[in-house]
Order: sequence, then structure tokens, then C-alpha cells
Amino acid sequence: MTEAIRIILIGPPGAGKGTQAQRLRDLHGLVHISAGDLFRARIKDPNDPMGQQLKAILDSGALVPDAVTIQMIAERLQQADCAKGFILDGFPRSIAQAEALDAMLLKHNIKLDAVIQMEVDDDKLVERISGRYTCGECNTGYHDTFKPAQDAHTCDVCGAKDKFVRRSDDNAEAVRARLKTYYNQTTPILPYYEGKGMLKRLDGMASMDEVTAAIEAILKGPKDSPGKNPPRP
Ligand code: AP5
Ligand code: MG
Repeated sequence: MTEAIRIILIGPPGAGKGTQAQRLRDLHGLVHISAGDLFRARIKDPNDPMGQQLKAILDSGALVPDAVTIQMIAERLQQADCAKGFILDGFPRSIAQAEALDAMLLKHNIKLDAVIQMEVDDDKLVERISGRYTCGECNTGYHDTFKPAQDAHTCDVCGAKDKFVRRSDDNAEAVRARLKTYYNQTTPILPYYEGKGMLKRLDGMASMDEVTAAIEAILKGPKDSPGKNPPRP
């Protein structure tokens, strides 16, 4: 018997949402749904009519309008692989998105296991973001200091050569704007989930392994907690 896990990771830019989501995906066979990655895929697609508008929004550090974001996540959650369980990385980021997600989950009789807030000091976030790079082929995340690729030209995971990329919104001005957006528009969803008894906080300043262990401990929490899904066959 395996049990599908469904969680939300909330945290400021650079908190480690994507890093931990990739680890949880590999550890538990979950689907990693990153709103930011979905937008970046659309920006890369020359046939997407909204690509350039999305790029301007992401580069500015503002949020993409709720209607566009909610529609995109609703479509992704309807895909068959999500039955395995999923990690929502960077969604929801507004009260409207949280309410829309509740309605989607209710419609399909799905319960979330946990909403996890990753807390990291602003100074550390800037350090993390300024050293970040990813493989343009498989999207594996790296860091110049904290997690360098074994070979500077080759992805450890997929072996792609000279495909490392840095995000265009990872400059100082955009990071400041993303942080402001996080504190103004996203942190109001924390009391929303706290009121439902679902919010768990963890120290995102710890090492990557320690953060993974903290998430695993949350997931192993009391079996009769209100958000637990019934076992899947
Ligand atoms: P998104 O792509 O989600 O960006 P973000 O929220 O700014 O977060 P990041 O991806 O920068 O950070 P992360 O927490 O994933 O950190 P990572 O694991 O990479 O969103 C981009 C944009 O899309 C938004 O600004 C917005 O415009 C739009 N958007 C997205 N979602 C939206 C929504 N719901 N509604 C509307 N618009 C939306 O780690 C960072 C670095 O640190 C890495 O190099 C990593 O190796 C390193 N690191 C990670 N953990 C540790 C650790 N514990 N110790 C040391 N180093 C670490
Ligand atoms: Mg990310």
C-alpha cells in the first residue's frame, strides 16, 4: 500500500522550495508542480501568445494575474500523473489562489497533507539566489558555493554539456521586488492555512539535508491528523 502525499511549499524567493521539491519528487515519486517553472516553459515556447507578457511580469518580480495562474494550475492538477501525489511549489501565492485551490481539491475529494512554510532570513536569500544556476535540459538546481556541479560544464544528473543557465529575474532589483511581493501578497495566506490547522513551519536556514529531514518528519507526523488522505491501493 502506498499513500499519496500532497503538500504545498511556501517561502520567499531562494528559500529552497524548488530544491526540496526535487528531492521529495525523487524520494516519494511525487509530481513537482512549480508555477514558476510552468511560466518559464511558456516563455520558452515561441508559439505561446502570452510568452512575452509573462516574461515581462516575471522579470519585474510581480505576480502573474490570478486568473491565468489558477487556470494553469487547474489544468496541471487534472493530468493523470498527479494521482501519484504532488508538491505544489510556489502555488498558491494569494488568498484568491488559496481559495481556488480549495475549491479544486474539494471537487476531486482530495485533502492536503501539509502546508509547509520555509523561513529564511533575507540576507541569506540574496546569497542563495545570486549563486544559483540550473541545467537547461533537466532543470536540476545548483549553487556556486552550496551545491556546485561536479564538472563546471556538465550536469551531474542528465550529463548535458554547457547547458547551465541563470534566470533573468535573479538580479538584485528583481529579487528585491520578488521579496516585496512575497511579504505583501503571499504571507497573508499563512494565517489562512494556520486557521485550518494545516500550517507547519521549518527552519529553511538549515542545510539542504536537514531541511529534507524536517519535511520528512512533518510528513511522518500523527497518522490521524485532519489533512491525511486515505491510503491508496
Ligand atoms: P518561482 O520560480 O517560484 O521563484 P521564487 O518564488 O522567487 O522562488 P525561487 O525559485 O527563486 O526560489 P526557491 O525557493 O525555489 O529556491 P531554490 O530551491 O532554487 O517564481 C518566479 C516568478 O513566477 C514569480 O516572481 C512570479 O512572477 C511568477 N509566479 C510564480 N508562482 C506564481 C503564482 N502562484 N502566482 C503568480 N505568479 C507566480 O534555492 C535557491 C538556491 O539556494 C539554489 O541555488 C539552491 O541550490 C540553494 N539552496 C537551496 N536550499 C539551500 C540550503 N538549505 N542551504 C544552502 N543552499 C540552498
Ligand atoms: Mg524555485
